[in-house]
Amino acid sequence: MVGLPARGKTFVARKVARYLTWLGHHTRLFNAGDYRRAMLGSMHNHEFFDPNNAEGKMARLAVAQAALDDLFAWLRKDGEVGIYDATNTTRARRDLVIARCIEENVQPLFLEIICDEDSVIEANIRGTKLFSPDYANVAPEEAVRDFHARISHYQSTYEPIGPDDTSYIKYIDKGRQLVINRAGGDIAQSIVRLLMNLRGVRKSVWLTRHGESVYNGLGLLGGDPELSPKGLAFAKRLSRFVKIQGETMRDAVVWTSTLKRTVQTVNELGVEVVTFRELDEINAGLCEAKSYSEIEREMPDEFAARKADKYRYRYPRGESYQDLIRRLQPVVLAFEREARPLLVVGHQAVLRAFYAYLAATPPEQCPHLSIPLHTVIELKPKIYDMAERRIPLD
Ligand code: SIN
Repeated sequence: MVGLPARGKTFVARKVARYLTWLGHHTRLFNAGDYRRAMLGSMHNHEFFDPNNAEGKMARLAVAQAALDDLFAWLRKDGEVGIYDATNTTRARRDLVIARCIEENVQPLFLEIICDEDSVIEANIRGTKLFSPDYANVAPEEAVRDFHARISHYQSTYEPIGPDDTSYIKYIDKGRQLVINRAGGDIAQSIVRLLMNLRGVRKSVWLTRHGESVYNGLGLLGGDPELSPKGLAFAKRLSRFVKIQGETMRDAVVWTSTLKRTVQTVNELGVEVVTFRELDEINAGLCEAKSYSEIEREMPDEFAARKADKYRYRYPRGESYQDLIRRLQPVVLAFEREARPLLVVGHQAVLRAFYAYLAATPPEQCPHLSIPLHTVIELKPKIYDMAERRIPLD
């Protein structure tokens, strides 16, 4: 990462880490501020970051080296993408990173976050930095003043990435502009795809499965059945739930799959509904409309293969969870573009895969996540993560 403090580097770095992890790339973040606090303690005022403070400069270099040492050690072991979340605002510091990458035979890609909007910088300081351990015992206004002084120190030596031959992406004004230089390859292109859609809006999301379907009642997989009487009663309760939320859900948009059971569930909500084919339930292929006991009896090899690796197992002529994640990419990107709160009415497997992205759960775990019927999962934004509450509507 490259950029002045309070430009949203950590926010973007965490989004990139989450997206790449979800796509199956072994990714880890190394945050220079965390290393500084672990190595030197957290009580540093702006003077520590003054480029004319020789002692501070040496200490900061030692911290940077320690974070890089760990990053490369991790890449050597089993890591695929290491994100070095630090300012790296001078050419000298970036040259150091490049030299280490050459030594370690690692391909570097710089991601520079540029934002000159005062209101965004102020919101970043007040929304994230005030909660940092750096300012644990400091009055808010004093902390804001100190942080502005810290930014000025970095500004005095800032050298933005120039038009040279390194690989870089510049993410400007919350994604209003992207500059991409020599960023080829699968991972770089996944990052570009995410950044083209990332608007940096923190919003609430509610996830729920459709109401009970006729097939759920019979224990059958897939198909396009209607809701059962219990499912129709859930649709009414969901509509009441949305009304009770009042303001919080007033501007919410509702996403469903194209299947009858999700569309019927939102019939009574009276809000804007967008349907996504990508949200349709996992395709169980030849196992559609069968029960698990039928599959065990009629297709014992398939039953055993699924049990052995539920994440990679692909139904004959159908899909696996891993396929589902690939298919859901446009939904995740639409989520990152969307500014309004969101209610997603989906299906068990597809919501497991989407939830794994939202809650930063390793994708291999998604077949085992609990997404019960008739329960709303509320995810409210925290500084960098989501706070979860499960609301049963039975
Ligand atoms: C920090 O110590 O908080 C950040 C150090 C840096 O990357 O400049």
